[in-house]
Amino acid sequence: MEVSSTVLFAPADTVNVPSIRGAVRAVGSHLKNQGLNLLINNAGISSHATLRSLDSQEMLSVFATNVVGPLQVTKKAVKDAGKEGLSCSRAAVINVSTKLGSIGLCLGVPEAPMYPYRASKAAQNMVTRCMAAELRDKGILCTAIHPGWVKTDMGTEKAPLTVEHSVRGILTVLASLSQDTSGAFLDWEGNSLPW
Ligand SMILES: NC(=O)c1ccc[n+]([C@@H]2O[C@H](COP(=O)([O-])OP(=O)(O)OC[C@H]3O[C@@H](n4cnc5c(N)ncnc54)[C@H](OP(=O)(O)O)[C@@H]3O)[C@@H](O)[C@H]2O)c1
Repeated sequence: MEVSSTVLFAPADTVNVPSIRGAVRAVGSHLKNQGLNLLINNAGISSHATLRSLDSQEMLSVFATNVVGPLQVTKKAVKDAGKEGLSCSRAAVINVSTKLGSIGLCLGVPEAPMYPYRASKAAQNMVTRCMAAELRDKGILCTAIHPGWVKTDMGTEKAPLTVEHSVRGILTVLASLSQDTSGAFLDWEGNSLPW
C-alpha cells in the first residue's frame, strides 16, 4: 500500500478474492469510519475473438474479469449507507461498461462480433441493473457508464477521445447522478444508452 497526502494506492487483482479483500481492508483502515463513497469498477479486458476463433477458456477469462470481478469487488466493498437519497458524494458503484455491450445498439449494426468482450459487458450491464435494484434500499446508487472510444491500451491510438476528455465528461456525469439515474446506462456525455 502506498499513500501520498491525497492518494492511496491499494492494488488488487479483481479476479482474486484474497487480493480484493486485502485492498478493501487497506482502504477501510485508511478511511476509518468515514466509509467509501464512490467505487468505480474500471478494470476490464477485451477480446476480439470471432465465432471461428474463440475458445471457451478465453470466454471464461473475459467473463471472470468483466463480470465476476465487479461483482466480487462490490460485494466486499459495500456497506449500508442509510436512506437519505442517492448520489455519488454519498454512496455509489459505477460500472465502466461499453456501448459494444448494448444489445439494443447491436441490432442490425454489423460491427466486429468480439463475442467474449461484448457478451461479458452485456452481462455486466445486467449486474448493474440488479445491483441498482438491490442496493437502492441501502442508499447506494449504481450506474453503468460508457467512457467513449478512448486512447488507452485497449482503445488504441485510433480512438478519437483522449483519456482527459473522457474522464472530464465522466466526472461531470457522476456529479449529476441521483435516484433517477441509478440503474441507468449512460455515456461520458450523460446521454442515455439502450441496454
Ligand atoms: N478504451 C476504450 O475505448 C473503452 C471503450 C469502452 C469501454 N471501455 C472500458 O473501460 C475500462 C477501462 O479500459 P481501458 O481502455 O483503460 O483498458 P486498458 O487500457 O486495457 O486498461 C485496463 C486496465 O484494467 C486493469 N485490469 C485488467 N484486469 C484486471 C484485474 N484482474 N485486476 C485489476 N486490474 C485489472 C489493467 O491493469 P494492468 O495494466 O495491471 O493489467 C489496466 O489498468 C474497461 O472496463 C473497458 O471495458 C474502454
